[in-house]
Amino acid sequence: MEPRADKKADATLTGLNHRHLLGLSDYSSAEIELILETARQFRDVLDRPIKRVPTLRGITVVNLFFEASTRTRISFELAEKRLSADTVNFSASGSSVSKGETLKDTAQNIEAMKIDMVVLRHSSPGAPHFLTRCVDSVVINAGDGAHEHPTQALLDLMTISELYDSFEGLNVSIVGDILHSRVARSNIHGLLTLGANVTICGPKPLIPVELDKISESGNLRITNNLDEALEGCDTAMALRIQMERQGRALFPSNREYHEQFGIKVEHMNRYQDLMVMHPGPVNRGVELASEVVDHERAVILNQVTNGVAVRMAVLYLLSGQGSEG
Ligand code: CP
Repeated sequence: MEPRADKKADATLTGLNHRHLLGLSDYSSAEIELILETARQFRDVLDRPIKRVPTLRGITVVNLFFEASTRTRISFELAEKRLSADTVNFSASGSSVSKGETLKDTAQNIEAMKIDMVVLRHSSPGAPHFLTRCVDSVVINAGDGAHEHPTQALLDLMTISELYDSFEGLNVSIVGDILHSRVARSNIHGLLTLGANVTICGPKPLIPVELDKISESGNLRITNNLDEALEGCDTAMALRIQMERQGRALFPSNREYHEQFGIKVEHMNRYQDLMVMHPGPVNRGVELASEVVDHERAVILNQVTNGVAVRMAVLYLLSGQGSEG
């Protein structure tokens, strides 16, 4: 997972080399930087009295959500509206999915109504990849099972880039339920591609075995000790324990998890430069003490604001609008 030579090349991109955003695993550093730079420009739009530009006028985007969401769903919808796209929201509940209609049939029927882009959240890893083989529309992954959540990682990267001059040599720790986390997977790809050092920390049963192989060769370190993860760390990303994806309990209790892996006020006092992030939704008192969620060095709400700008950038760059003269 060290930045590959081909992932470091093409430093002056003006467009993406991909038609879809399915994950960050095959996005180059130049592509990620282009998205972040474009997002910074759109971020300014969000502070204007009239938060709307005509960039995607005439483009129709469908938000297909087969899983619960607050931030990603509202953020995509706002991003589409801010860009003047026509936007339609689909929830599996209350749709013909409850009558047995498949993802393929649902998507093809919606595409027959003449749309341009699909934003998909689904509980099955690989669902967005499958969708690219069923429809002609541009597909954006808004989270597929425990696989990837690329726009979350991009908004996390944007938030980190506002705190430091460079990713090169930056120490970022990801703490929590790594096994079930698409946010962790996308962030590991993005952070390593941009040159950061990544430490993964959590209870042994919540660390995927494949990371052991990666850590042997790259800037990725694994620990089961929270203080080891926070010592020398610039930014810590805490992750939610995803009870809904655990077939059985993988640690004794939330109280014991918080004792061993929860970031508490004592950590904020001990590590005076430590910044804290969380993708949400937060379980206060489990992965973060409630006081840490509201701490001046927690940038959780900055992440949410940047999410709209990042999604505007992704929609714009994948729409092809920028490449038309
Ligand atoms: N971070 C994130 O994906 O939150 P939602 O599940 O609320 O979209």
